[in-house]
Formats: sequence, C-alpha cells, structure tokens
Amino acid sequence: MKMKQLPTTANGLHGSVVVPGDKSISHRAMMFGAMATGTTKVLRRLDSADVSSTISVLKSLGAKITEKDNNITEVVGTGVAGLKSPNQPLDMGNSGTSTRLLTGLITGAGLNATITGDSSLSTRPMDRVTVPLSEIGGTFTSDHGHLPLTIEASKLDTEIHQTLKVGSAQVKSAILLAGLAAGSDTFVTDSFHTRNHTEQMLPKFGVKVETSGDTIHIPANQKLQATEIEVPGDISSAAYWLVAGLITPNSKLTIKNVGVNPTRIGIIKVLQDMGGDITIDTKTDFGEPIADITVKTSQLHGVEVGGDIIPSLIDEIPVIVLAATQATGKTVIKDAAELKVKETNRIDTVQEELNKLGANVIPTDDGFIIDGPAKLASSGVHVSGHGDHRIAMMLSIAALVTNGTITLDDDESVKISYPTFFNNLEGLVKS
Ligand code: S3P
Repeated sequence: MKMKQLPTTANGLHGSVVVPGDKSISHRAMMFGAMATGTTKVLRRLDSADVSSTISVLKSLGAKITEKDNNITEVVGTGVAGLKSPNQPLDMGNSGTSTRLLTGLITGAGLNATITGDSSLSTRPMDRVTVPLSEIGGTFTSDHGHLPLTIEASKLDTEIHQTLKVGSAQVKSAILLAGLAAGSDTFVTDSFHTRNHTEQMLPKFGVKVETSGDTIHIPANQKLQATEIEVPGDISSAAYWLVAGLITPNSKLTIKNVGVNPTRIGIIKVLQDMGGDITIDTKTDFGEPIADITVKTSQLHGVEVGGDIIPSLIDEIPVIVLAATQATGKTVIKDAAELKVKETNRIDTVQEELNKLGANVIPTDDGFIIDGPAKLASSGVHVSGHGDHRIAMMLSIAALVTNGTITLDDDESVKISYPTFFNNLEGLVKS
C-alpha cells in the first residue's frame, strides 16, 4: 500500500481555509430535491464519495441530478409518487447516512429495493432503522441486521408514533422521511437532541413541521416543492483545523463560512472549556447559522465530556481525543459507545493509533481516559487510518506536532467527506 509522508511545521499554521459543504446537509438537500416536484438548486454541496453514493442511488430511483456552473447542483425531482423501484441493487458505498435515510425514504414510498455497501458499511447495524420501520408497517430481510438489506414494497401505518432508542439523527430522519413519503401523520420523539437538519430543511421545501418539546410532528399528506438550498461549510471538517490551530505552536488561523447549528457545536464548547482561544464571528443565517471561526495556539487542560453533549460532537471525538493528548491533566470522555459502530470501531482505532505515537489513551466501554500532555512520536512511526476518513484526518493533524517522520497508509479515505483535506493542510502549513 502507498504510504503518505505527513507534513509537520515549525512555524505553526496561518491564514484561512474554507472547508467543503456540510455532509449531513448535502445528503438531505439531494434527497429532498428528489422527493420534490420541480427543479431544486443546491449551492456549494459537498462533492465527496458519500454524497456521490446518495446521488447515484437517487438517479436509480428516477431523479435527474446535474452539475451546473458556480457550484450549483440541480435536482429535478419526480415527486415521491414518481419515484420507481430500481432494477439493480443500490450500492451505498461507505455511507451510513445514505443507507439509513434512503431506507426510510424507499420504505415510505412503497418501493422494492436491495441495498448493498462496502465492507465497513456491511458491518454496521441497520436494525436500528429496520426495527422501527417494521413496527410501522415496513417489510425487510437482512443478514442479521446487516447489509445486504432487501426492502419489500409495503404500505405504512397512517399514523406513526416512534421514540428514539439510540441518539441517532440517521434513525430519526429515516422515520420522518418514511412517514413523509407515505403521507402518514408522523410523530418522532428525540430526547437525545440529535442534529436537526431534516426538521430545519423540510419547511424550505414547503413541508409543515411542528416541534413540541422533544417531539417532531410532520402532519399527513404533504408534498415537497422544489426550492434553493445553500450549504454551509461542514463543522465536522472544520474540527481538524480547530484542533490543529490550538495544539500546533505559533498558530493563528481562520475557518470561513462554517455551519454552527446549535445541534453541531459541541466541539467548540469542549475546546473552549479546555482553555482554547476560539473567536466566533457569526454571519448571515440562511436557516442554518454560519460563522467565521478563528483559533490561536492555546495551552489546553483536561475536561470531562459526557451526557447530553455527545450527539452534538460524535464525529469530532477522534480529534477531541487528540486535543486531550496535548492538554494538561486528565480528560474523560464517556457515554460515547456509539463510536463502536461508526466507519470503524473508533474507540479501538483512536487508542491504537494515538498510542503508537506515544499518547496515553485508555479505552473504556463508552469512551476514553486520556492523560496529557504527551510528547508525540519523535522517531518514525507508520500509522493506519483503518480505511476510516476521520481517523486518517485526525492522525494527519497529530503528525503536525511530531518531528515529521510519520507515514500514513491510506490517505485515499479522506475522499469520503473531505477530498481537498491534504491540499488545505499544505496551504495552512506553507502560509
Ligand atoms: C449523521 C448523523 C450521525 C453522524 C453521521 C451523519 C446525519 O450519525 O455520525 O456522520 O447526517 O444524520 P448517527 O445518526 O448514526 O449518530
């Protein structure tokens, strides 16, 4: 396998960076565009392997999706009634969000389909969507809750009441989309307060969504109308630069146009709690709030992270653990057992790779205990991203605070969510 030499820097990171569009929002904009009638224009969507999986599946269901100039993607929707059962299996690649949300959509639309994915996706649990969807009338066969998954055309209940058992926005969105596509009166209770992009975006497509306490209600028999969606920068991608700027000596950098939806900013709260110098300049708000975020090198200290904040930073935990290795004292991360069912078991992969670099990371059943600060690798170490984009990017940031002798096995995985990651890294190191 090709090994990549990871850059380091003596002068710190400087300048500014614009991160690509938000992955969660990009998936939803494509899906809702396909469910709508008319032409939806999506500005600055994420162009990555995961979103490409969603697009190719939507095309197999009958939507027309084309790239235009100026970062605009046009989605010509058929309306839910115009979607058709695909005549070949739907390949979701590495993408859990595509799989779970589209399973909801296809089930609600009353279509037949078989869903496949890559080896990582095929180990991830799909019963978290098929069990609640079966309870409301869906019919599935799967390999013990794993892909390949077959959806058999069925008619859903006209009234749907579900309460989330896991803190997963993918599950919440799958049920909401199933109910919306089926025209059912749909109520989903989410006491975990997972990311709310589905509820935020549907009203732009003319769908009435009522929220009362923890319960989201989509009234029956609504149709989506085409609209325009502007996608903010992905805070999950910005997370690498937030931590890089804080832990790399002599750094000051700005990340522009980052989505700062309150259900996604747990990482900012935790890094500020750790003593990070972070300035947030909030800008216009087009439904999803956006901000320019500036970070400066800071001496961090250990903190406790757990409970309600976890869903708002679940994808950022690998890079938060890296920050904790450079902080003074002990950091405890708990209530994060969901990490075990991400693209890899991230409790295992984070501790294995950071400890190879000399960190002191102890895995627990639902998180980590980290003792810092640790001096990371002063002699050559080969690290592995285990094919997981967020592990590869976290390790590339870790390499910045080493003496520059670190090699990474799979730089290709960044294409899942952040294809221009290494270009941006080189730009910040050089400026
Ligand atoms: C996502 C929800 C999260 C997150 C994933 C994107 C979404 O997954 O990890 O990257 O777009 O709804 P879970 O809902 O399974 O926690």
